[in-house]
Amino acid sequence: MLKSLIIGCGAISHVHVNSIKENGGKILAVCDIKEERATALAKEAGCDKTYTDYKVMLAENKDADVVHVCTPHYLHAQMAIFAMECGFDVYLEKPCAMDADEALEIVRVSDSTGRRVCVSFQNRLVKTTSAAKSVIESGRLGRLLGIKGIVTWERSGAYYSESGWRGTWATEGGGVLMNQSIHTLDLLYYFGGKVKKVEGSVALRKNGNVSEVEDTAEATIWFESGATAIFYATNCHVISNPAEIELVLEKGSLLISNDILYERVDGRLKEYTENNETPLGKSVWGSGHIAMIGAFYDAIEGKQSYYCDIRDAYQVLEIIGSIYSTSANKLR
Ligand SMILES: NC(=O)c1ccc[n+]([C@@H]2O[C@H](COP(=O)([O-])OP(=O)(O)OC[C@H]3O[C@@H](n4cnc5c(N)ncnc54)[C@H](O)[C@@H]3O)[C@@H](O)[C@H]2O)c1
Repeated sequence: MLKSLIIGCGAISHVHVNSIKENGGKILAVCDIKEERATALAKEAGCDKTYTDYKVMLAENKDADVVHVCTPHYLHAQMAIFAMECGFDVYLEKPCAMDADEALEIVRVSDSTGRRVCVSFQNRLVKTTSAAKSVIESGRLGRLLGIKGIVTWERSGAYYSESGWRGTWATEGGGVLMNQSIHTLDLLYYFGGKVKKVEGSVALRKNGNVSEVEDTAEATIWFESGATAIFYATNCHVISNPAEIELVLEKGSLLISNDILYERVDGRLKEYTENNETPLGKSVWGSGHIAMIGAFYDAIEGKQSYYCDIRDAYQVLEIIGSIYSTSANKLR
């Protein structure tokens, strides 16, 4: 049984507690600068040790195997690096870092310490993604020609003003690209493969009263395979919908919409597979944490398994960096 520590006891930490338990892990201690949050999460996790300083927690719990980093974005790289230097493997929430350079620093320390870092791109392991990936890799529908990724969410007011870290370049590192639609960009990369070129643009349309980072973005991605992707994301919708991804291949197309994978047969959409696991948190977070945390724990225990490694997750920050740098509209 693997033993875990959690840093950051906010919204997503509850999903981690449930996922660790589902995978048979034991939570030794949790840490949050807000003591009451640590106390509440410890109760849920069934552990009796809480901390307000993560360095003290790591020093006093050397028998743990994995550190889960569930803090605001600007703390991810420094916490992951410190944990590896203390000898722990790291399950790191997305985005893995504030930019690609910081992510490369995590890679460097992973190389030098031999510790693993799994990044929480959990949607790679949900049923619809796995089934679509299998169809593409089987070659049954021919070569992948193009991908469409659309994310339309509602994020406004209290979501920014109450968090203390969302909505600023210094602490969130970006907006709809770095936070909400990063999972969809990751899937475009996961399906499309190595990237040749990216052009995009960003805008702040609706949330300028509570945020300085972009709430809307679009991009075109050219992959080395010859396929292309178009991408649109916004936090300015009035509700949050599950992201939609269309994959166009030579002999047919696939559509992931509302957590169902469809295949277009003779011009009509035919249901193929559904993500019918119940999400552990908000529905738009999906149900993949159990699978990704389980896969990582299996790998730590020496079993053959696939998880999203930091070296792979880093590529998504390269894509986001290119969208910012090619945008004619500069927000920072
Ligand atoms: N994978 C997903 O689908 C998914 C979904 C939601 C959030 N997230 C990610 O999870 C992370 C946390 O998001 P959240 O919504 O839970 O945020 P949150 O603000 O609800 O929680 C963050 C917690 O970290 C604590 N914290 C801040 N500084 C700390 C420090 N130095 N030491 C210890 N604790 C500290 C805060 O007090 C807070 O309780 C973010 O990176 C976010 O992008 C991922």
